[in-house]
Amino acid sequence: RGRPLTDTHGRVHRDLRISLTDRCSLRCTYCMPEQGNEWLARTSILSTDEIERIARVAAAAGITTFRLTGGEPLLRTDIVDVVSRLAALEGPAGPVEIAMTTNGIRLAELLPSLMDAGLQRLNISIDTLQRDRFRELTRRDRLDDVLEGIAAAAASGLRPLKLNAVAMRGVNDDELVDLVEFAVASGAQMRFIEQMPLDAGHTWDRSQMVTREEIVDALATRWDLVPLPGRGGAPAERWTLDGGPHTVGVIASVTAPFCGDCDRLRLTADGQLRNCLFSTTEYDLLPTLRQDQGSGLAARESDIDDGIDRMLRSCVHGKLPGHAINDPAFLQPARGMN
Ligand code: GTP
Ligand code: 5AD
Ligand code: SF4
Repeated sequence: RGRPLTDTHGRVHRDLRISLTDRCSLRCTYCMPEQGNEWLARTSILSTDEIERIARVAAAAGITTFRLTGGEPLLRTDIVDVVSRLAALEGPAGPVEIAMTTNGIRLAELLPSLMDAGLQRLNISIDTLQRDRFRELTRRDRLDDVLEGIAAAAASGLRPLKLNAVAMRGVNDDELVDLVEFAVASGAQMRFIEQMPLDAGHTWDRSQMVTREEIVDALATRWDLVPLPGRGGAPAERWTLDGGPHTVGVIASVTAPFCGDCDRLRLTADGQLRNCLFSTTEYDLLPTLRQDQGSGLAARESDIDDGIDRMLRSCVHGKLPGHAINDPAFLQPARGMN
């Protein structure tokens, strides 16, 4: 226990993304069907205590950033408690960082408590600024709630604040410049994402994907894009706008994979560790966490923590050098993004 999480390709893992629920208040067409997915059973969803326990062991093994995701993480009724418990953790390098990726709904209302609890960074998804488009794309008429969430984040002073948009042909690819201007006005960094084969309907089509190159060309009609160095393990390649203080990012997982520098692990809402968005193997923590249930025997606390640590190490050990999206034999994993 306590050693860094280094894989067989030399990558040290410092980022754990924790999905708190598979449910969502939106139904983005590239993510979920209209009726939602078949939701995970409530009994399999990790409790607040279980999440804290896994995070504590992960922090001791060198995880320095916990990013809370979903589905939509703000749908968890214990969200403030989760943030506050994780924010109190320390690893060998000191206190951990707590970040969140959200669709922005209910953020305005929850942000003061989340910040008091220790939330440090926010990424908010917004694919369009046009009301009708938003309704079509997310199948919910909630653009105003999202804009309210972004305004609250902008006013909060939490920085860097990032806005995410999946670029989609014929859907929002005429809005890229508008989205950047909106982000600049909000003091945020706009990031455009290449769509990945992670939709529930398995309808992803490479020819429909707006590529990094097309995104850069569209932005270059308005700004001189000056590349920024120092990306590290971050998925976004960044540029300044006209050499000024404002920046824009592109996450090109398909045409320019960043797997070689990947430092991420994932934990699903039902307690499965994964070493990649595209992995087909999952490392199940539930038997370790719940070994007492039904057995009548109390496991030693330290044995449970040892079991979590071992599972983290197996997961890291099994990590492949990269995803195979560009391989003709690629098979989409059963689990989608949510
Ligand atoms: P930062 O730490 O702020 O850079 O966060 P992030 O960009 O990692 O997180 P966010 O949840 O905002 O994710 C934005 C997009 O990044 C997602 O839609 C994915 O496309 C992409 N992304 C995040 N993590 C991974 C990863 O491990 N692999 C791949 N291929 N893409 C990822
Ligand atoms: N490809 C790329 N990005 C996706 N997201 C959801 N599904 C996909 C996909 N198939 C984005 C969301 C959010 C971020 C966490 O992931 O829009 O911004
Ligand atoms: Fe919800 Fe995010 Fe999926 Fe949209 S992409 S339905 S906001 S989980």
